[in-house]
Amino acid sequence: MQKGERVNFGSKVGAILAAAGSAVGLGNIWRFPYETGNHGGAAFILIYLACVLMLGMPIMIAEFTVGRHSKASTGRAYKVLAAGTHWKWLGYWGVLAGFLILGYYSVVAGWTLEYIIEAVTSGFANKTPEEFVEAFRSFSQNPVRPLVWLVVFLLATHFIIVKGVKDGIEKSSKVLMPILFVLILVLVGCSLSLPNAEKGLEFLLKPDFSKVDSDVFLGAMGQAFFSLSLGMGCLSTYASYFGKETRLGHTAFSVGVIDTFVAVLAGLIIFPAAFSVGIQPDAGPSLIFITLPNVFQQAFGGVPALAYVFSVMFYVLLALAALTSTISLHEVSTAFLHEEFGLTRGRSARLVTSGCIAIGVVSSLSLGSMQEYTLFGKGFFDLLDFVTAKIMLPLSGLLVCIFVGWYLKRSVSYAELTNGGKQKVGFLGLYMFLLRYVAPIAIALIFINELGLI
Ligand code: PFF
Repeated sequence: MQKGERVNFGSKVGAILAAAGSAVGLGNIWRFPYETGNHGGAAFILIYLACVLMLGMPIMIAEFTVGRHSKASTGRAYKVLAAGTHWKWLGYWGVLAGFLILGYYSVVAGWTLEYIIEAVTSGFANKTPEEFVEAFRSFSQNPVRPLVWLVVFLLATHFIIVKGVKDGIEKSSKVLMPILFVLILVLVGCSLSLPNAEKGLEFLLKPDFSKVDSDVFLGAMGQAFFSLSLGMGCLSTYASYFGKETRLGHTAFSVGVIDTFVAVLAGLIIFPAAFSVGIQPDAGPSLIFITLPNVFQQAFGGVPALAYVFSVMFYVLLALAALTSTISLHEVSTAFLHEEFGLTRGRSARLVTSGCIAIGVVSSLSLGSMQEYTLFGKGFFDLLDFVTAKIMLPLSGLLVCIFVGWYLKRSVSYAELTNGGKQKVGFLGLYMFLLRYVAPIAIALIFINELGLI
């Protein structure tokens, strides 16, 4: 490879799995179930699926186009494609969103480490459902333990980023994603076999449209952006490493299908289990940290060795799924500091890690000893989640639609989607229609509605 030439993922499958590794994470297994629970179940899922198809897919292809065409990380991509304009702020905005998300995401990622240790030391054995609730409460509100795990998780991410992510991300994604998938399927089977599981299934599959309000639309849209890693340039940064043979439409579709499948399967694990042990589905961020240990005990209670093995494996995989996502989030900010300010990669990564530790510490404490400090009725953790997922990401998505749909020359999009004319692509017209009209109008309407203007 010549000096200065940009590194690429080694294969098309590797590119898909790396992007899917970024998309599949805590958003699917932790956030999707509790957002679904908070917003009333099946009707939310239907609206979510519509958001994935009509907003998520075109915006993902658009981000891929920006990344591969500019061959630059997101912080610089808009500068390269629209030199001398204000579009550069869209790149900076994405970097800021990714940085803030990494701060509070790492708090939850750290919780998975505590749960690995609990599982390894048989801490789940013989606990009652009430004891699991209390155990989670006292851990998440402890002033020190979650902070230690937060730092450990960010240091692990930092270490991989400094070493250079490419080989690590691509290779580990190829191994981890299939294992994650098999484990999820087994857990779905266990959860569905629990007593009262059908109530959970009904909650997931029988839509109750009387619960649908503007909040549900905003929630579904925010979840789609968060889960697909859209709106912060993460996927456009990864796309700058795509080879010229990688098919953008096909890759986006594969990532969308994998991500949605994992989220729905996570719902099929959590809700039957939650109803079975009598936990409310709207328990919020604590949902999976209370229901899952319960599932393991109840489903395999008669065979302690199995309960042990599954608990350990599940939390290890949850941590690894989170890790492939934190790596991608970290990469956006690190690559930005490196490319924009000429800092070394190591120095850039140190700055990002330190900043995220600071944000993570405040987020974590806002769930415990700093609970009384709120802004707009929300603690810092909830506020960050709300502002990033429900405002910053969709807003950035809206601007990406305008940039690629209206500003960028159509020939650029066509060349990228057809790999320079080599690939026949049947959905160009539909893609452009969704990108130019449907997605921006839908995002704008959901915002306006939420602000109470209509
Ligand atoms: N999509 C990840 C998840 O669902 O857990 C979270 C995430 C990763 C969001 C990377 C944004 C991002 F850029």
